[in-house]
Formats: sequence, structure tokens, C-alpha cells
Amino acid sequence: MDAILVKGGRALNGEIRVSGAKNAALPMLAASLLAGGKFKFSNVPDLKDIETIRQLLSTMGAEVDRQGDSVHIDTRNVENFEAPYDLVRKMRASVLVLGPLLARLKRARVSLPGGCAIGARPINMHLEGLSRLGARITLEHGYVEAQADRLTGDEIFFDVPTVTGTENLMMAAVLANGTTVLRNAAREPEILALAEMLNLMGADVSGAGSPVITIRGVDRLAPVSARIIPDRIEAGTYMVAAALTCGTIRITDAEPDHLKAVISKLRETGAKITVKQDAITVTGKRPIHSVDIKTLPYPGFPTDMQAQFMVLMSVANGLSVISETIFENRFIHVLELQRMGADIQVSGNHAMVKGIEKLSGAPVMASDLRASASLVLAGLVAEGTTQISRVYHLDRGYESIEEKFRKLGANIERVPESSS
Ligand code: EPZ
Repeated sequence: MDAILVKGGRALNGEIRVSGAKNAALPMLAASLLAGGKFKFSNVPDLKDIETIRQLLSTMGAEVDRQGDSVHIDTRNVENFEAPYDLVRKMRASVLVLGPLLARLKRARVSLPGGCAIGARPINMHLEGLSRLGARITLEHGYVEAQADRLTGDEIFFDVPTVTGTENLMMAAVLANGTTVLRNAAREPEILALAEMLNLMGADVSGAGSPVITIRGVDRLAPVSARIIPDRIEAGTYMVAAALTCGTIRITDAEPDHLKAVISKLRETGAKITVKQDAITVTGKRPIHSVDIKTLPYPGFPTDMQAQFMVLMSVANGLSVISETIFENRFIHVLELQRMGADIQVSGNHAMVKGIEKLSGAPVMASDLRASASLVLAGLVAEGTTQISRVYHLDRGYESIEEKFRKLGANIERVPESSS
């Protein structure tokens, strides 16, 4: 396993290009199961999770080839309806094949994803929704067995907005008999991007991006070409890096409209942010002002930016209360930041962060994708050297992170993890 070494203290300056969004690419690649033919996806990030869904689609009979930043998928021979445990356990978003498999092959056998570091993350809303559309669902030996001759449209109300739940049911409903209405649906940009792709394929989806999505079932869909939208969380991560290190970073190929909550909060901390079409420029300044954040479903402050923002607050000039309302265990990075000297007290789903002058470099361990990004950020401003182990978490969601940070002037390198 690799580790990343970061020597802190440098202001980061320069320009980076945001890659395509992992959380848009995963549902869109899964949607290729809905029609037999040749799909072309461009601006696909080169990430471990994309490799995992490539393997998953291949086991189903699809031909999946990467050519540069494009992925070509031929789904004419898709016939295997099983998503095996060894792939699903690597990436819970594999559950996104459930809806498309049911819609196209009338059957699906998908391993239950199990829990993960940030929470139990059940898929009950996915399964309850599919049952409402007429699927017969059983759970056997750790697998979801689902069957349906033809799904029938119905009304589904989500207890809480679920991103992949909304995506799974949108994909299940596009070939159903009749109309499906999803209420209290998630509103993330990745959902709108998926709906636009489905409509390009011949589906009839309206309301995506709002809490009520209406899907009128059609008889068949056709393959398309689609471009993956920019990764708003990657962009947000580099914005925080500029604020933290008091540098100026220009982030290109971004979509500022997807980052309104993050831009607003960062401005409150004192960072200077200018937005031009697809570019966001952030200049960090001292003092960093302490602000409170509360993670919420989109368009609220994203939970995927909580850990990164906590690093910024750990060197701010006062007390910040960070409330995590989406996942029940998304403060694992607190323990690692405390080892670097951060003054953070956790009580329930609140973290009280008292800003200190400087973090100190230390060996730390990554636990989940966004927590590992926050440890890299902490290393960039800590005194001395920080070694972050288990960086495979990072490689799941950040394309060439050390190259991009090195280009901005960071003293960062990837090394084999010392056996010690
Ligand atoms: C998506 O996960 C993202 N992943 C996550 O990004 C992101 O943090 C999350 O949405 C929230 O924004 C992808 O898009 C691949 P949810 P998802 O269903 O869909 C509960 C990253 O770092 N829930 O919106 O799994 C759930 O436990 C990842 O890129 C149920 O109880 O999240 C959570 O508390 C991490 N039952 C809340 O809803 C269900 O059936 C929201 O989860 C489904 C969800």
C-alpha cells in the first residue's frame, strides 16, 4: 500500500483543471445497461471507482474500453444480472446497477453493500421503492434477489432525500408501464445530469433537480454519447486548499453553480473568491474567520465537504460548530486531526472546533475518501511532515491528487508505505 508524504508551510498558487465527477459518472455508466448498443462517455475521471464499475459492467457482458478520458461501452451482449460481493464490497455505488438490470433484464442479483466507515448506509429506500414499482424482492445469503416481469409506475415518497436511491429508482422507472412520481427526491447536480442522459436516450423524465421527479415509462431506449459534469467536491477541496495556505488557485472546467453553498461559506471565512463562467479563483487570507456549518442535502452545504472544511476551521481565529446531519459516523477524521494538534470536541453529531495557530505534522491514517483528502489538506498547512497511510481511499475519488497539488507548489510525494 502507498502512503503520501506532505511537508507543510507553502502557499499554493497556480491553476488546476477539475476532473469529471465520480458521483455523476457512476450512475451514468450504470444507465448504459438500460439499452443495447454503443455508448460513449467523455470527461470520465481516471479513478479506482471507475475501474470497479468497468469490471462490474464487464461481468454482466458489456464491453468497456477506456480511451484517454473517454469510456466506450457496448451493452448489446449484457445478459448476466448478478453484481458479485467482491465488487460491491469495494464500492457500494455498485448498487446502482439494481434499477437498470431490473428494468432491462427483469432480474437482478446484487450483493448487499454492507456498512462503511461513515455509517450503516442501508439501502432500504431503494428496495422499498422497487417493491412499490412491482418488483418481488428477497434477501438471501447477503444478496438482493429482485424480479419483475414489467415494472409498473407508482408514487414513491423518500423518508429522507437519497442520492443513489433517487438515481436507482429513476433508472428503474424509465422503462416501467405508466408514470412514476418520486417525492422528497434528492436534488444533487449529478441527478440532473443522469436525467438529461436518460432523456437523450428517449426517456421522459421531468423535474430532476427539484424535490418532485416525474418519469413517464417508455417501451425502449437508445444508446447515446454523454459528457461527465465537473466534480464539485474535487473543486471544493482545492478551493479550501487555497484558503488554508493563503495562496491563489484558479480552478478551471468547474461549474460554479454547483458550489453556491461552499462559495458562500468560504467567503464568510474571509477568502476572496471570484467566479467567471467555468473558472473559480480563490485567494486565502489570514485571519481565517471561524464559521459554523451544518451539512444538508443539496443545495445545502455538502457532507462531502465537511472534513475539508473542518481542517480550515482548525486553524481559524475562533470557535466553529460543525453539524453533520447526513451520516451518523462522519467524524473519523477528528481523531487524526487531533493527533496533529487540532482542538476539536465531538458531542453527538456536532464537532466544536477551536482554531489554533498551527497544526503539527504527524503520521496519520486515511479512513474514507473525503477524510483522506482532509488529511492531505492538514499536511499542507502543518509544521513539519505528515505521512498519510492507506491512500487507496484517496485514489477512489481524486484523480492525480499529488500531481495536481505539486503543480500548485506543494511539497508532496507518494511513497511505498513503510512496513514499520
Ligand atoms: C451519495 O451516497 C454519494 N455517493 C456520497 O458521496 C454522498 O456523501 C451522499 O450521496 C450524500 O450526499 C454517490 O453518489 C456514489 P444517500 P448515497 O443515499 O446515495 C440514508 C463520496 O465521498 N439512507 O444520499 O449512498 C443514508 O444512510 C460519497 O463521494 C437510508 O437510510 O447517500 C444517509 O444517512 C460518500 N436508506 C442518508 O440517507 C437508504 O435506502 C443520505 O444517503 C438510502 C440512504
